[in-house]
Amino acid sequence: MQEIEASGGDVCRGRFFVYYNGEMSETTAATPVAPVAAHAKYTRNQPYLAKVVTNDRLTGPESEKETIHVEIELEEGMTYTPGDAVGIIPTNREAQVQSVLAALGFNGTEVVQDHYKNEISLLEALTAHLGIGKLARGSVNQYAKLCGENVPDGLAALLGAENKALAEEYVWGREFIDLLKEFPGVITEPQQLFVVLQRLQPRMYSIASSLAAHPGQVHTTVRVIRYTAHGLDRQGVASGHLGERAPVGATLPIYLHENKNFRLPEDTDAPVIMIGPGTGIAPFRAFLEHREALGHKGDNWLFFGEQRSVSDYLYKDQFLKMQADGLLTNLHTAFSRDQHKKIYVQDRMTENAAELFAWLERGAYFYVCGDASRMAKDVETALLDVIANGTGSTPEHAVAYLAEMKKAKRYQRDVY
Ligand SMILES: Cc1cc2nc3c(=O)[nH]c(=O)nc-3n(C[C@H](O)[C@H](O)[C@H](O)COP(=O)(O)OP(=O)(O)OC[C@H]3O[C@@H](n4cnc5c(N)ncnc54)[C@H](O)[C@@H]3O)c2cc1C
Ligand SMILES: NC(=O)c1ccc[n+]([C@@H]2O[C@H](COP(=O)([O-])OP(=O)(O)OC[C@H]3O[C@@H](n4cnc5c(N)ncnc54)[C@H](OP(=O)(O)O)[C@@H]3O)[C@@H](O)[C@H]2O)c1
Repeated sequence: MQEIEASGGDVCRGRFFVYYNGEMSETTAATPVAPVAAHAKYTRNQPYLAKVVTNDRLTGPESEKETIHVEIELEEGMTYTPGDAVGIIPTNREAQVQSVLAALGFNGTEVVQDHYKNEISLLEALTAHLGIGKLARGSVNQYAKLCGENVPDGLAALLGAENKALAEEYVWGREFIDLLKEFPGVITEPQQLFVVLQRLQPRMYSIASSLAAHPGQVHTTVRVIRYTAHGLDRQGVASGHLGERAPVGATLPIYLHENKNFRLPEDTDAPVIMIGPGTGIAPFRAFLEHREALGHKGDNWLFFGEQRSVSDYLYKDQFLKMQADGLLTNLHTAFSRDQHKKIYVQDRMTENAAELFAWLERGAYFYVCGDASRMAKDVETALLDVIANGTGSTPEHAVAYLAEMKKAKRYQRDVY
C-alpha cells in the first residue's frame, strides 16, 4: 500500500489517499486543514472521497453506445443546484500503466518527485498524476526535445508550426504508449516523464439529479468512450474509470462545480423547453426532478434524441411517467437511426414550430445541452428559423429576438 495525493493538487490544503488494488481510500492529511463549510471545502485540489452507490447501464445490449447512470453518495452538507456539474478525478487503468512501464524498462518502484516535489513511486505517478491517455501534441514536442541532436526522422516530421496538421493527425487516436513504442529509448530517467506528459486532469459531468429528489446523492449520465485505433483497444480515462473501475461500493475522488449560467428560471411558473440529445439529457433529468419534487407549476417540454428507440432511450420509464403525471407537458423524441433518413431533435422542433414559438412568446426559457461541435449550432439555426417564421420577419430580426432572449437568460447552453 502506498501513499499518494490523488488530486495531484495543492499539498498544503492536501487530502491524502492510499492507493491499493485499484481502490482509493483516505488517510491522514500531512498538514492540518482549517475547517470550512462542508459544501465549499471540496475542490479539484482537495476532493471528497465519495462512495458509488449505483452504477447501471442505461443503453441496451444492442446499442452501439455504452451509456451508464452512476449514483454517488455525498457528505452531509455538500449541496448543488440542478445545472451544476460534478468533477471526477480518474486514475489510469492498471494494464495501461503496466504497458508504459514495460515499454520504458522500469518496474514502478523508482522514486520520482510529483508536481509539488513530493517523493512518490513511479507506479503512483503513472497511475494518478500523469496523463498517459490521449496523446497531446505538446508531449510529442517535449519528447523530441529529449532526443537532443538525434531526433528520429519520423519524429522530426511532426515538429514545428509547418507540420502542425501532420502532428494533429498523428496524435488522433494515439496514446503515450504509441509514442514510446514507435520511438523507443528516449526516456532514460523516470523524472523526465513529468516534463513530457501533462497532468492527469479531472473530467466534468453534468449533474443528472436534484437533491430535492435524492438527498445526499449526486447522479451522472456518462457515455463510456471505447474505440479501436492503430491496432489497439482504447478507452477514455474517466469514462473508462466510471465504466469499469467504479462498481457499487468503490470510492471516487469528486468535487462539485457550480454553473450559474445554466439555471431553471427563478419564476417557478415559467415554461421551459429543454433540448438534450445523448448525454445532454443529464441536466434536464435534474431540472425535471427538481420541479417535480418542489411542485413547480411551470410547463415543461423535453426534446430527447439518440440513435435507436429500442436500445438508447435514456431514462425512458421515468420520462414516460413524468408525461403521464402531467409534469412533462410535451415530450418529443428523435431516434436518428430508427429509419433510413436521420431525424434529429431540431427536426422535431421544426415539426412543432408554431407551438414552440407560442411557448417562446409566453416567456419560455430555452435550454440546450450536449454536443457542442454540431448539434448545438444546428439547434440554434432551427431555433432562429422557428422565430423568423413565428414573427413573420427577417433572419436579422430573429437574431435580435434571440439576443434579447439571451440577455434575459432565456437562452442557456451547456455544451461540450
Ligand atoms: C461541462 C461539461 C459537462 C459534461 N457532461 C458530460 C456528461 O454529462 N456525460 C458525459 O458522458 N460526458 C460529459 N462531458 C464530457 C466529459 O467531461 C469527458 O470529456 C468525457 O467523458 C471523456 O473523458 P474521458 O476521460 O473518458 O476520455 P479521454 O481520455 O479524455 O479521451 C477522449 C478523447 O479520446 C479521443 N477519442 C474518442 N473517440 C475516439 C475515436 N473513435 N477515435 C480516436 N480517438 C477518439 C478523442 O481525442 C477524445 O477527445 C462533459 C464535459 C463538460 C466540459
Ligand atoms: N470529449 C469526449 O471525448 C466526449 C465523451 C463523451 C461524449 N462527448 C460528447 O458528448 C456529446 C454527447 O455524446 P453522446 O454520444 O451522448 O450523444 P451524441 O453523439 O450527441 O448523439 C445523440 C444523438 O444526436 C444525434 N446527432 C448527431 N449529430 C447531430 C446534430 N448535428 N444535431 C442533432 N443531433 C445530432 C445522434 O445521431 P447519429 O449518431 O445517428 O448521427 C444521436 O441520435 C457529444 O458532444 C459527444 O461528442 C464527448
